[in-house]
Amino acid sequence: MNTTTLDTAALQARLSERGQGHVLNFWSDLDQSGQDNLLREVSSLDLDLVNHLMNLAASPAAESKAPNITPPETITLSEVRANGDRIRAAREAGAAELKGGRVGFVLVAGGQASRLGCDGPKGDFPVGPVSGSTLFYFHAKRILRLNRLHQVRAPWYVMTSPANHEETQRIFELNGYFGLEREDVFFFCQKMLPALDLDGRVLLRGKGELSLAPNGHGGVLEGLASSGCLEDAFARGVKTLSYFQVDNPLVRPGDELFLGLHKLADAEMSSKVVRKSSAGEKVGVLGHVDGRLGCIEYSDMPEELLNKRDEDGDLVFSAGNIAVHALSVDFIAKITEGGLKLPWHVARKKIASVDATGSPCEEDGMKFETFVFDALGLANRSVTLEVDRAHEFAPVKNRQGADSPDTARALLCALHASWAGRCGLPLPVAGEDGVVSVEIDPSVAETYEQFQASQPIAPLVTEEGHLYH
Ligand code: UD1
Repeated sequence: MNTTTLDTAALQARLSERGQGHVLNFWSDLDQSGQDNLLREVSSLDLDLVNHLMNLAASPAAESKAPNITPPETITLSEVRANGDRIRAAREAGAAELKGGRVGFVLVAGGQASRLGCDGPKGDFPVGPVSGSTLFYFHAKRILRLNRLHQVRAPWYVMTSPANHEETQRIFELNGYFGLEREDVFFFCQKMLPALDLDGRVLLRGKGELSLAPNGHGGVLEGLASSGCLEDAFARGVKTLSYFQVDNPLVRPGDELFLGLHKLADAEMSSKVVRKSSAGEKVGVLGHVDGRLGCIEYSDMPEELLNKRDEDGDLVFSAGNIAVHALSVDFIAKITEGGLKLPWHVARKKIASVDATGSPCEEDGMKFETFVFDALGLANRSVTLEVDRAHEFAPVKNRQGADSPDTARALLCALHASWAGRCGLPLPVAGEDGVVSVEIDPSVAETYEQFQASQPIAPLVTEEGHLYH
């Protein structure tokens, strides 16, 4: 008997003890590389965690308990527009943090982009209405602009997942890191978890392959700590990490006001929200759940609360989550010490698998994720800032319809055409869809004031529209 046979026998025994012996059912049908792959995946399984998840899923009462929700205290857009002392002081404080090199950036880009249905990383999706620039380009150029403005080299920590890790790195290499220093961009891969069937058995995607999925964007916190990124942030003197998602080309990770409010409040984790456009808009809302700040997903919100209105007719739960946060580095270190304990969210769905004969099938199963916004409940202090959705929120989620490339491009054009118009610049004729196709490169400006200060004269005129770059 050779060592591999022994190893396999030991593994089989260990798996069977935990009721997971079936994952090696097709072992003898696999060739060497198939066996190696399965062995690698199975060895990385955390069977204690699988056991924990199984027990959790078996007690649905805990998941479905009706929450007691109250709206969060929010710094409103009207207060920001009134530009009083608090707002002006915060802007200055935020600028000082950026200039002092005390801000770093975190992008979560580990999702599978299944709704958009694009091959490869979502960040490589072309979203620029005139330029065709990708989401990665938009984010990188914004950071580059901030670095130049403040004469700093802010670190950028990018979370990927195994399905897109290498490709993401390759895209950055091919694009010369979009002008950033490669030593300032760090990629780390989030952990994967197995999908389970309704009896808690690990599902196989193929005869020699487990059904694995990323552990949710909550994995970013543990990932920052275990990858060494947190240590790097400490070494650079970075105090705050500005967190954002890959899918929003209008995101403003270096917003002085938000960073300043977070700093002046000595907050541990803060959030930006937009007022929900309608009761049915598919965004999570920030709120206190049983006394703790958190985010309630659209799908988890009871119907009567989704539609609840105050005496003025405004939605009571209207603080729409745009998934932009500021997190103190000390806070992340504190909550990840000894392993992060965020709650698990269970998604029950049909999962591609194989049946007892090894033929493809769809199985009822469960996937497990943690969400970064659950860390809000662990923060001692938190700021919630309302921002103008037309300026900061153009998510690309679906292939068509709401939150699609078309809506994101139209929102970018509407904003940028309004800036060009206010500066008295010539505008192209609106297309059949009513869109006035103007795009301002993120390295030029991310606010009207910055655009005006860049003294734009003439755009590059192409068939697609006007581009200021
Ligand atoms: C998310 C928020 C929702 C918010 C909306 C704003 C959740 C559960 N909901 O919804 O409250 O209103 O954004 O646009 O997050 N990601 C990873 N690893 C993962 C899973 C996701 O890196 O394991 C990243 C994705 O690449 C993406 C982001 O997290 O950048 C959001 O994930 P997604 O599942 O698309 O969340 P939404 O349903 O769009």
